[in-house]
Amino acid sequence: MSKPFIVAPSILAGNHARLAESLVQAEETEGVSWIHLDIMDGHFVPNLSFGPQTVADLRGGSNLFFDVHLMLDNPHLYIDAFIKAGAQNITIHAEPDYPKAETLRQIRASGVKCGICINPGTPVEMLEPYLEAVDLILLMTVQPGFGGQSFREDVLPKIEKVASWRQQHGYKWRIEVDGGVNLETGLQCREAGADTFVAGTAFFKHPDRAQFVSILEKQDA
Ligand code: DX5
Ligand code: ZN
Repeated sequence: MSKPFIVAPSILAGNHARLAESLVQAEETEGVSWIHLDIMDGHFVPNLSFGPQTVADLRGGSNLFFDVHLMLDNPHLYIDAFIKAGAQNITIHAEPDYPKAETLRQIRASGVKCGICINPGTPVEMLEPYLEAVDLILLMTVQPGFGGQSFREDVLPKIEKVASWRQQHGYKWRIEVDGGVNLETGLQCREAGADTFVAGTAFFKHPDRAQFVSILEKQDA
């Protein structure tokens, strides 16, 4: 969780027949320290991705920080499995109805970092009960379910609002954005107060991935 600004390539944009190779491509890119792993259940989001076994198998070959994003209706049922698989941060969504605070406590009690996430249409106020309980706040900048979508500029004011809470109250959590993040939208998010940038398509398709990372992570932008 250390660097001021972090790019987290989203392996959802990798080759799903050769995910380990996509992971190595990310890991071999200078500056990359995190990998974002999108877990989808086909209920909370209209898509399916991969599960704990895939994460565990990828874990064995990587030293990257595993940032796991659970887009699940019932994430509390899978926390143990993802902890065992080697997740180092687990982010859950605020929208579904399940014991969220208890789930965050369970993640933290295992020594894994925890995050709470809201979709573009969800008011930031839904985050308020969890601000003392998390290490990361994830603001979706697309409606979750698929990579390659267009960035939602209407989320920028939400980033600013959450960043103002952090400033006012001295919270230490990271502000992560996810969806349609490229150099242009990523710098807009930085301007608004985000410090952690999930990038799937823009990262994997970029002709110079190290340059992509250095631009978004440089401290004197
Ligand atoms: C979307 C996922 C995102 C997605 C980002 O539901 O949560 O992490 O993979 O992909 P891009 O960067 O291609 O929008
Ligand atoms: Zn994600």
